[in-house]
Amino acid sequence: MTQILDISDLKALARRRVPKLFFDYADSGAWTEGTYRANEEDFTKIKLRQRVLVDMTNRSLETTMIGQKVSMPVALAPTGLTGMQHADGEMLAAQAAEAYGIPFTLSTMSICSIEDVASVTTKPFWFQLYVMREREFVLNLIDRAKAAKCSALVLTLDLQILGQRHKDLRNGLSAPPRMTPKHLWMMATRPGWCMKMLGTNRRTFRNIVGHAKSVTDLSSLHAWTAEQFDPQLSWKDVEWIKERWGGPLILKGILDPEDAKMAAKTGADAIIVSNHGGRQLDGALSSISMLPKIIDAVGDQIEVHLDGGIRSGQDVLKAVALGAKGTFIGRPFLYGLGAMGKDGVTLALDIIRKEMDITMALCGKRNIADVGRDVLADYAR
Ligand SMILES: Cc1cc2nc3c(=O)[nH]c(=O)nc-3n(C[C@H](O)[C@H](O)[C@H](O)COP(=O)(O)O)c2cc1C
Repeated sequence: MTQILDISDLKALARRRVPKLFFDYADSGAWTEGTYRANEEDFTKIKLRQRVLVDMTNRSLETTMIGQKVSMPVALAPTGLTGMQHADGEMLAAQAAEAYGIPFTLSTMSICSIEDVASVTTKPFWFQLYVMREREFVLNLIDRAKAAKCSALVLTLDLQILGQRHKDLRNGLSAPPRMTPKHLWMMATRPGWCMKMLGTNRRTFRNIVGHAKSVTDLSSLHAWTAEQFDPQLSWKDVEWIKERWGGPLILKGILDPEDAKMAAKTGADAIIVSNHGGRQLDGALSSISMLPKIIDAVGDQIEVHLDGGIRSGQDVLKAVALGAKGTFIGRPFLYGLGAMGKDGVTLALDIIRKEMDITMALCGKRNIADVGRDVLADYAR
């Protein structure tokens, strides 16, 4: 096997090991995928400032996100269907994150449930909430996250209606996959994945089935999810969710300074500058290109995080330099998971950590807390 040296190596391996419909589900954006591509490309346009003859010993990447200690400013982003990249994917990724000392965020649309993840972890994880029309289900989810001692609620704001991904439509994506000849072929060509999947009973949306009133089986689940995202979600809803939750709250999916100002007024603990990894509004600007404007608008009022397009430790460092207190990675950890399970997630984190550490040193900094716009070529005087 070829050596795995960066996230693109993990991606190549995941492509070989994960059935096409689930690999494509991760590796896709809305419509033309223009925003998906821009998220990555815009990082490459930011250049670093090389410094020499600075003491580079005793470096530290340790910092905090919403006051919680993290070994580096990286969290695992909430991603739906993670347990379809690899059997029990959410449980494995949560364990890898815990061992690494960084937050894991469980999606509402996960395969493993809140209770599944809680049963294999010892430290609190974060829970991402989609607000569904069935409010009783939402209240119940919040209560389940509290009971599982989740230490932050990540409320996603940018999915009131669903963006369209062509690959998913062409592949006929569903969880579990349908048993048509095409789908059977996609799975039969990935025997390792199949063996592991046969060894678990976690193969559907376990936060939902048995919890939402009208969802009893697979066909009712499809109908329910299709009409449950709430197009009327408003800033008023943020208020009652904040109150019901009563703990640290992070608002995810802010891409515009005006929305950032509104978000800061809610009293939330942080916002995530995000366009959902380019999976919602195709044609929107990249997250990293919007970060400086959002920092200028609200950086002194609320903690700002970023996700979208991070593929290396250098990208994390660039986001931190532009003012993000923390970052989230989606696809990099999914590729690790699909490639090698829990070890692959750890390897993705190792790769990112090493790249960030070396880059920080070569920019003449020893502590992530000292990384600011002065490490970027365009901002240096
Ligand atoms: C396969 C996949 C599924 C996702 N599912 C969710 C989700 O359930 N909830 C959510 O808030 N964001 C979801 N996202 C968006 C991620 O949380 C995050 O914003 C995005 O992945 C960041 O971009 P990156 O993948 O380039 O790191 C998903 C992203 C991917 C790639």
